[in-house]
Amino acid sequence: MKKILPAVALCSAFFIGCGGAEQPAAEAPAEGGAASELVSGYDLANGQEVYEANCGSCHDNNLGPKPGDVKAWEDRIAQGMDTIVKKSIEGFSGPDGMMPARGGAELTDDEVANAVAYMVNESVAR
Ligand code: HEC
Repeated sequence: MKKILPAVALCSAFFIGCGGAEQPAAEAPAEGGAASELVSGYDLANGQEVYEANCGSCHDNNLGPKPGDVKAWEDRIAQGMDTIVKKSIEGFSGPDGMMPARGGAELTDDEVANAVAYMVNESVAR
């Protein structure tokens, strides 16, 4: 945590453009890629904690795609990890509603990324 503090401090001034700064590159293609390849380098245990505390209120209640719903996640995962992490950090609106930046919580880029990785890991066909 210590070593990323400067980057986080910088990023909190300008949310845009910092999404990938501390993330491991997700090189595995989403299509047909095993979950383990997609989410390698992310901390899934931390992601689950972050998810349960900050994301489940919507995503477990049909406000936003539910982890484990393979169909709801297919096309989203196909955008690539970097893209869906960035969108989750910055927030976006889509046909299913509004996804607030960082889920509306005070989270670091890494924490959001880990939560996204946890959701993806739960949501790929096995
Ligand atoms: C206030 C409700 C709400 C909260 C809280 C929330 N989300 Fe979402 N999220 C949404 C909605 C709604 C969508 C779907 C938007 C659409 O595609 O139309 C979404 C979509 C997403 C997607 C799919 C992105 C894509 O490109 O399809 C990811 C990943 C995601 N959220 C991650 C998170 C994470 C991580 C958190 C917690 C840090 C979180 N969300 C918290 C409502 C929420």
